[in-house]
Amino acid sequence: MTELEQLTQLCTRLGAAPGPAGVMAAQLQKRAAQFATERGVTREAAMQYLLEVVVKGRHGESPLESISNRPLPSMRERLLSCFNATYGRSPVVMARAPGRIEFIGNHTDYNGGTVLGAAIDRGVWVALAPRDDGARHFASEHRQGVVALTTTDRAKLEGEASWVNYPLGVLLALPEFGLQVPAGFDFYAVSDLPTGAGLSSSAAIEMASALAFLELTGEHPPRETVVKAGRHAENHFVGVPCGILDQGVSGFGEKDHLVFIDCRGPHFATVPLPAGAHFWIFNTHTKHALVDGLYAARHRECMAAAQALGVKELVDASAAVVAQTRVWPSPEIGRRARHIVEEIARVDAMVKVLERGDLAEAGRLLTASHRSSQLLFENSTPELDFLVDTLTRIPQVHGARLTGGGFGGAVMALTTPQFTAEEAARVAEAYRIKFGTAPDVLRTQTGAGAEVVRV
Ligand code: GLA
Repeated sequence: MTELEQLTQLCTRLGAAPGPAGVMAAQLQKRAAQFATERGVTREAAMQYLLEVVVKGRHGESPLESISNRPLPSMRERLLSCFNATYGRSPVVMARAPGRIEFIGNHTDYNGGTVLGAAIDRGVWVALAPRDDGARHFASEHRQGVVALTTTDRAKLEGEASWVNYPLGVLLALPEFGLQVPAGFDFYAVSDLPTGAGLSSSAAIEMASALAFLELTGEHPPRETVVKAGRHAENHFVGVPCGILDQGVSGFGEKDHLVFIDCRGPHFATVPLPAGAHFWIFNTHTKHALVDGLYAARHRECMAAAQALGVKELVDASAAVVAQTRVWPSPEIGRRARHIVEEIARVDAMVKVLERGDLAEAGRLLTASHRSSQLLFENSTPELDFLVDTLTRIPQVHGARLTGGGFGGAVMALTTPQFTAEEAARVAEAYRIKFGTAPDVLRTQTGAGAEVVRV
């Protein structure tokens, strides 16, 4: 979809005549790009804000220059106004859940290993109001129209409506944990989390939806149950054999902390992040066409490695045994096993390094993790490797690695406070010269975990 089409769609969704937007489209696009950078929000959010102000004249004036210094509507205000515009009434409950950075522990979670992640200051917000006719309506600021289902609709959705599989999967998962779900409702989601960037927008919408549904039914199970229900939705409905990392971090995140998960329990704990740790995300917008299949293939290879070693999960194998084993079903299965056991050791080493506040050593572990993903787990790409190579040559960068499932997506850099936006722009430009398009650069911070929000 072109930006102009996107803009026109946004206009329609905001109930505005397309005329004024058509006239201002070029100006708006330019301003939205600037605005997004200035305010650290997605381009779509910036456009929506500008449109609301300009087209609806919310602040009673329209020149673009005069609005640039006004505060952006908060996610809460945005959600309330979208909900009202779509359903003609106010929501009854609201919840939000953050995206996450996978700090270290690549593909360790479904092998029973340990992993460290951080909830970030961006996420998905969900609003709900009950309906008494049993209809289930889903709408999002990123898609046009309303997806109308009933309580008996349990089939996976395809195409444009496939985003609904996340809340729908949660509705089907909660009863598996002995929890009730609301019958009919109007649902709306807004997000300031880029999708496809390895920041787990899917876990964020699952967790926010789960909390909102539970708030509507008045049930308050332990947080761990909600996290497990989110993963259940992903495994059994969406169909990705992921581990507990994404939902666990979104559910247990805390500002200025990392979430440590021992996936065997699972057990969740938080670890303070040393002062002066800064995160930058470089989203390549590349995603392997077969990413889901490749993730599932790595999952199968790890299970085959555990079987070859005679253990239940790879976490039960020692690094020494893996190193000595010569007979694997195939050489790559041996490489996958080595990555997993060494990566679990790096996560455990990282916990101690963070306790000492040694960010330089933390950075070395991060880059070592990337090299292992690149060479042993083989889930990196030339684009991700280029970013890691370029970033790790910069003195203010402690370390860098791919974050998330791999096969495209994003690189995370841990930097000193002296790493600047200009430095990040130089990295992006070097990437553009090599690959033709610049990555999105996002400076991000840790944030709070999933929560119910006052309406
Ligand atoms: C994805 C999955 C997680 C985890 C990571 C890789 O984000 O959803 O469960 O396996 O990949 O570490």
